[in-house]
Amino acid sequence: MRAPARHIRLSLTRLRGLAAAVLLSSIAAIAAGCTPLDHAVGIIFGRSMRNQPSFDPYENPRLPPAGSIPFAAGEYPSRGGVEHAEPRVSEEPAPFTQAELDAIAARLANPVRPTDESLARGRVLFRRNCAPCHGTDAAGVTGSVIPAGFPPFPLLTDRVRNFTDGYIYGMIRVGRGVMPVYGERVSHRDRWHIVNYLRELQRVSPFAPEPLPPFAVAKADALIRDRLPCLGCHRLGDEGGRMGPDLTGLGMRAGASYVRAVIEDPAMMVPGTIMPKVPMRPETLDLIAAYLVQRRGVPEDTAPAVQPPPAPPMGAQARSGEALYRAYCAPCHGPDGRGDGYNAPHLPARPVPHADSALMSRRPDDTLFDGIYAGGRILGRSHRMPAFGETLSRTEIRALVAYIRQLCRCLGPAWSRDGARPTS
Ligand code: HEC
Ligand code: HEC
Ligand code: HEC
Repeated sequence: MRAPARHIRLSLTRLRGLAAAVLLSSIAAIAAGCTPLDHAVGIIFGRSMRNQPSFDPYENPRLPPAGSIPFAAGEYPSRGGVEHAEPRVSEEPAPFTQAELDAIAARLANPVRPTDESLARGRVLFRRNCAPCHGTDAAGVTGSVIPAGFPPFPLLTDRVRNFTDGYIYGMIRVGRGVMPVYGERVSHRDRWHIVNYLRELQRVSPFAPEPLPPFAVAKADALIRDRLPCLGCHRLGDEGGRMGPDLTGLGMRAGASYVRAVIEDPAMMVPGTIMPKVPMRPETLDLIAAYLVQRRGVPEDTAPAVQPPPAPPMGAQARSGEALYRAYCAPCHGPDGRGDGYNAPHLPARPVPHADSALMSRRPDDTLFDGIYAGGRILGRSHRMPAFGETLSRTEIRALVAYIRQLCRCLGPAWSRDGARPTS
């Protein structure tokens, strides 16, 4: 008889203790003013769900066990789109420590040539692993990971330019000082791809514009809105397309040199991009780049509405009209040429429906060619239709004209066709 009574008494005391603990902890939590439930649970059970072995974003992570291989090292079969690099090869130098960095890494030779593929891979990895602290353009940032007030760590300085490829490879592998170790996250070849891409960023000539006077600002604004095709694809303030990133507040995340280099030669800075090279004079280029990085504003959403598909790769043969159309034209003109691409609602004029045979049979092939080559403006149409003459070859533009003819299942006016042309 005694045992159960004691048992009940015991549980009662426990219950009372628990109630008191809950009450006390709630009071403490309310006084502390935040996450009361977590605190209560923490006091009773000694831990809460907030208290986990996982890491907060950018918390300096625990190093993986020795001998770990990056998942992307290419030793796993590629399944379901897992991105994997090239196979681990015997050329990988033996492990070394931070103390040995100067002695060993500086002598390593770069075995990976800076091909387009290497640069494209390096760009992805640089943006993923390095840009949070060094900036997308390697000009250094503060504010997010490197706390505001600390100096930025630019990688465009002469100092870093003069490091050997091997030294930078070594820094990625073993870290240095506050710079984290990336050796277990970025595979051997990928480290060299990052080095190649960093070298590419360093080749960009430095451009540090003075603050623009109000007249120049007004001029740049008018050029961007009323003459250049930029807002066909990019948002700026309250207008513009969604094919590329929002350019509002660009100076917050990109340096002037990088911005100027992208506009000057998009395909060199961003391999595989669909951004065309827009013909303009060097003074205009400087003005537009300075204007974009100095203009203040908060972007609605920096990511493009739809990640644009990469341009079909350049090869020995010219790319097909259909592949070109899908990459460069379909976002505005629609995949079937109905003028209804996802970017069309953001344009002031409806992109011409290339599938409309009544309309297209009034257009000579030469007019279509000129429009694609030199842009909408020269046909007296919307300047948001970009000029592709500096981006696509003549053969490729002719392939596009032929593809438009396929979409409309029509021919140009009889007088414009070769056979019907007056001979003279
Ligand atoms: C968490 C922030 C952070 C990330 C991410 C980061 N770094 Fe660093 N990096 C630093 C800091 C801080 C320094 C300065 C370290 C020092 O003074 O020793 C530095 C220095 C460097 C330097 C030497 C600069 C000099 O003037 O000596 C190189 C090169 C470098 N980082 C390359 C990279 C590369 C490549 C990546 C991507 C794989 C990367 N860093 C990722 C923070 C970072
Ligand atoms: C046909 C569409 C198109 C046109 C026209 C166009 N761009 Fe772009 N632009 C893009 C895309 C897409 C990207 C993103 C690069 C990528 O990842 O492919 C881009 C990237 C950029 C970037 C880099 C932004 C960043 O966050 O890194 C800048 C700067 C830029 N464009 C400026 C311009 C300017 C200035 C013009 C006009 C002279 C222009 N663009 C015309 C599509 C376009
Ligand atoms: C950023 C959106 C955009 C992109 C990208 C774009 N266009 Fe256009 N296109 C337009 C707009 C807008 C017009 C003109 C509408 C107007 O003013 O009537 C136009 C007009 C044209 C015209 C003139 C048709 C005529 O005779 O009236 C041709 C040809 C053309 N586009 C072909 C192309 C081709 C080919 C591509 C891809 C290489 C392409 N466009 C990419 C938006 C775009």
